[in-house]
Amino acid sequence: MKSPPSGRFGPRVMAIADHLAEYTDASPGLTCLYMTLAHRAVAAELSKLMATAGMETTIDAVGNVIGRIASAKPNTRTVIVGSHYDTVHNAGKYDGRLGIITAIVMSEELQRSGRKLPFHLEVVGLAEEEGVRFSTPYIGSGALAGRFDPQWLSRRDSAGLAMEDVIRESGGDPDAIPKLARKRGDLLAYLEVHIEQGPVLLSENLPLGVVTAIAGAARYRITVHGEAGHAGTVPLALRHDAAVAAADLIRFVEQRCLQSEGMVGTIGQLSVPNGAMNVIPARCDLSLDVRAGDDAALGAALADIRAEIGRISMRRGVSFEIDEILRAPAAACAPHLQQLFADAIGRTGHPARRLMSGAGHDAVMFSGLTDIGMLFVRCGNGGVSHSPLETIDGRDADLAVRVLLDAVSNLAA
Ligand code: HGY
Ligand code: MN
Ligand code: MN
Repeated sequence: MKSPPSGRFGPRVMAIADHLAEYTDASPGLTCLYMTLAHRAVAAELSKLMATAGMETTIDAVGNVIGRIASAKPNTRTVIVGSHYDTVHNAGKYDGRLGIITAIVMSEELQRSGRKLPFHLEVVGLAEEEGVRFSTPYIGSGALAGRFDPQWLSRRDSAGLAMEDVIRESGGDPDAIPKLARKRGDLLAYLEVHIEQGPVLLSENLPLGVVTAIAGAARYRITVHGEAGHAGTVPLALRHDAAVAAADLIRFVEQRCLQSEGMVGTIGQLSVPNGAMNVIPARCDLSLDVRAGDDAALGAALADIRAEIGRISMRRGVSFEIDEILRAPAAACAPHLQQLFADAIGRTGHPARRLMSGAGHDAVMFSGLTDIGMLFVRCGNGGVSHSPLETIDGRDADLAVRVLLDAVSNLAA
């Protein structure tokens, strides 16, 4: 297939990313949490873009925006190409969205060139991957992959609203969620283009990379229960200070993760509810996120952390409540899809750098249901992400569309 003139796709990708970033829950900056007004507006915009690219579009029960180009062969399988359109607080414009936009621009080119694929193509804007509003990641991809846990529906946001009610009020139908699940034989592959969210491609001056695997991850919401007391009168040895117990745990997590190559542990949220300067904390709330490329190493570290929590409880006379939010095993990208992307990158004249992803992605949910493949795009500004400083170069975006088009076309072959 004759490749289109270079440079055509990049400006289109960047312009759509800028346009979608105008819809935000809070200004300045970009925040687009699950099922907010901004989130629904982005869904509508994505649906319009997909329709313009010649796709039949639907928005499903959990808010996934699906654009479909059916193959002339009715009983063939489907390739899903997509990513998520929700964001973290004060986010960048490209995390998630780049994967949807590159797929839409690729579909525009397929429509323009009249190229037909021997499989159904579905471009999907997945509704929720970050897990910010309801502390529940992968709602969109979990529903499509048949891994949506109905108990998630009773999770509440910071305003006390239940996910189920929010989905209903936004026009979704929680009762229809089980029917969204794709069957094993439905899919040929799940492909995702995503920014690297790290410094590797930038440091090696490479525009694109091929993802070999996505790190396994465990996420917890933890509450430490201690005893309140007067900050001036209770001797340190007699205290059951929830915040100091949390500090013991935080320090242990860092030391334990440092013992395993590549393992990371993060306490992203830490608070003393209704705390006061002159009161010993009776309670401390914190999150814990631990990731590793190797599942056995992750499991061993989690066991050590639980054992240390027992020791801290005894030593400080406190108790820990632990709520497991996520336990996603490491997910390997299919070798043939890695090779498909590597060959496509090679045809652009660039080396195909293979690298693991420390960040989680929707592809994790599809792993086990179908083959997964991911293409990374270089991040500027030192590789920063989950920040308004997140940036990419339009020329890399152009290459990403080109490589995606090449890969999908060769998958066809
Ligand atoms: O947290 C992650 O790894 C992803 O950005 N949601
Ligand atoms: Mn993210
Ligand atoms: Mn992401």
